[in-house]
Amino acid sequence: MTAPSHLQAYQAFCEARISPLLEQLFQPPCADMTRLYQAMAYSVLNGGKRVRPLLVLASCEALGGTVDDALAAACAVELIHAYSLVHDDLPAMDDDALRRGQPTTHIAFDEASAILAGDALQTLAFEVLTDDQLCPLGDTQRLQMIRVLSRAAGAAGMVGGQAIDLAATGQHVNQQQLERIHRHKTGALISASVQLGALASGQSCSQQLDALQTYAAAIGLAFQVQDDILDITGCTETLGKQQGSDSLQDKSTYPALLGLQQAQAYARQLRDEALHALSCFDKKADILRQLAHYIIERKS
Ligand code: IPE
Ligand code: IPE
Ligand code: MG
Ligand code: MG
Ligand code: MG
Repeated sequence: MTAPSHLQAYQAFCEARISPLLEQLFQPPCADMTRLYQAMAYSVLNGGKRVRPLLVLASCEALGGTVDDALAAACAVELIHAYSLVHDDLPAMDDDALRRGQPTTHIAFDEASAILAGDALQTLAFEVLTDDQLCPLGDTQRLQMIRVLSRAAGAAGMVGGQAIDLAATGQHVNQQQLERIHRHKTGALISASVQLGALASGQSCSQQLDALQTYAAAIGLAFQVQDDILDITGCTETLGKQQGSDSLQDKSTYPALLGLQQAQAYARQLRDEALHALSCFDKKADILRQLAHYIIERKS
C-alpha cells in the first residue's frame, strides 16, 4: 500500500502500522511480571505524537525505501524515546506528574516500576533490531542501526544531554552551551531517526545522506526550541504536560535566554535551514518538508 502524501493522513497510516508492532511487545511472560509490563505499555501506548518513528519512515521513503523496510527501526527509536521520558519525569530529574494528559509513569505506578520500565524499554529497543521477524534486513544494516541508536541514546547523545541539562538547571548558560544541551538531549535521537531511515533504505548516495543529516540537525534543535516555547505559550490541557514546568524549575531554555520572540524567530530560521537542506530531493521528501513545518507550528 502506498503511504499518503499529507502529514495528517501519513501520521494515521504510520500509527496503524506501528501500534500493533509495539503492542505485541508488552505481553507479560508470567503473572509476577505483569506490573512491569503494564508500566512499559503505559509509557509507550499512551498517545505520543510519534515524531521520531515518522521521521524514520519518511526518511526511508525519501531515499526510495519502503515503510516496511523501516518499521522495526521506527519502533526501536520510539521505545528509547518513551524510556527517556519516563526517566526525565522522575523526581530526581524534572519531577513532573503529567505526561500525554495522564499521570507520569512513576505516579501511575511507583518510582521503582518507572525506573525498571525505562530500563526494560531501552534494552527492548535493541532486541527489536536484532529480531529476524521484526527486522528482516541484512546483518550489516542491523549492526549499523544498533550502533547509530546506541550512540544517540547514550552518553554521547541523549543521556549526556540530560546530564548537562540537569547541571545547567538554575545556572546561567550562554547560547552556545544551551545549543549543546539541546542538540544532545533531543537532537541526537532525532538525527538518529533520520539516519535509521536512511540505513533502512539501503541508499548510499552521499550527497543525499549529507543533506538529510543537515536537515535532521536543524529540526532536532528546532524541536527542542519549540518544546521550550510551548512551556510558556501552551496550555496544560493541550500540551498534556504541565505548562510552566521549566520556568518553575529555572530550566535553561531558549525563551529564558533570548526572550520569546527571538526564540520563535530562531525556530523559524532552523525550519528554513532544514527545508533548504532538502532542496536536492524530489517530492518523495514532501513528508519530511511537512514535518519541518509541523515541528515548529505544533501546539503539543
Ligand atoms: C518530548 O518529546 C520530549 C522532548 C524531547 C522535547 P515529544 O514532544 O516528542 O513527546 P511525545 O512523544 O509526543 O509525548
Ligand atoms: C526532554 O526534555 C528530553 C528528553 C526526555 C531526553 P524536556 O525535559 O524539556 O522534555 P519535556 O518537556 O519534559 O517533555
Ligand atoms: Mg528534562
Ligand atoms: Mg522534562
Ligand atoms: Mg520541555
